[in-house]
Amino acid sequence: VSNDSEAKAIRAVISRRRVTRSYENDPVRDEELLQLAETVYWAPSGGGRRPVRVVIVREREQMHRVIAFSPGIIGMPPALLVLCVDWSRAPHLRPDDPRDTHATHVDVGAATSQILMLAEAMGLGACPVMSFHRASVRTVLSVPRDWTPLVLVTVGYRAGSPPPTRTRSTPDGVMYWERVGEGLNARNLK
Ligand SMILES: Cc1cc2nc3c(=O)[nH]c(=O)nc-3n(C[C@H](O)[C@H](O)[C@H](O)COP(=O)(O)O)c2cc1C
Repeated sequence: VSNDSEAKAIRAVISRRRVTRSYENDPVRDEELLQLAETVYWAPSGGGRRPVRVVIVREREQMHRVIAFSPGIIGMPPALLVLCVDWSRAPHLRPDDPRDTHATHVDVGAATSQILMLAEAMGLGACPVMSFHRASVRTVLSVPRDWTPLVLVTVGYRAGSPPPTRTRSTPDGVMYWERVGEGLNARNLK
């Protein structure tokens, strides 16, 4: 079923989303955090494995503990979603083999993207963070040994005015028709 207004709304959310690194102190409601976390369940995953797990952090003391090991988090977000790979969902994959981690990293990336889009549509700011010490965050959050915490997503109400929407209307060298070399431009649109 095609729905022009839905497609338009999704394109608008995708194109205006920017990361938020400065938040108001207002808490995010648990229900909203759960809605964000739940998007992970709907995300595509390699082989339909659904290996992504989410730990929600919103208590201040626990937030301080995570932040202590996360140089990539700027300031004090009201909440965090920690996306982990549960390797028990993929017993034939090995967490130490790059060929296997690539697939699960794409799974986490797809899940992250869904969280960012819904947050934007809900009027919340968010920022994915990979600069953190995995072993320490694992300990702080009691993450089981066979999970790997991979991405933190900070969440909250943006302080200050939103950053300008980036202009990405004609990204030279990003898109091609059929093969690299035939650059996309207005002239070769069918
Ligand atoms: C895989 C990944 C890791 C990132 N890690 C961090 C991080 O550790 N700290 C941070 O402040 N932003 C981080 N970011 C956010 C990027 O810096 C941001 O998306 C980029 O500068 C583009 O800005 P925009 O999302 O507002 O368009 C990360 C983004 C991605 C996709």
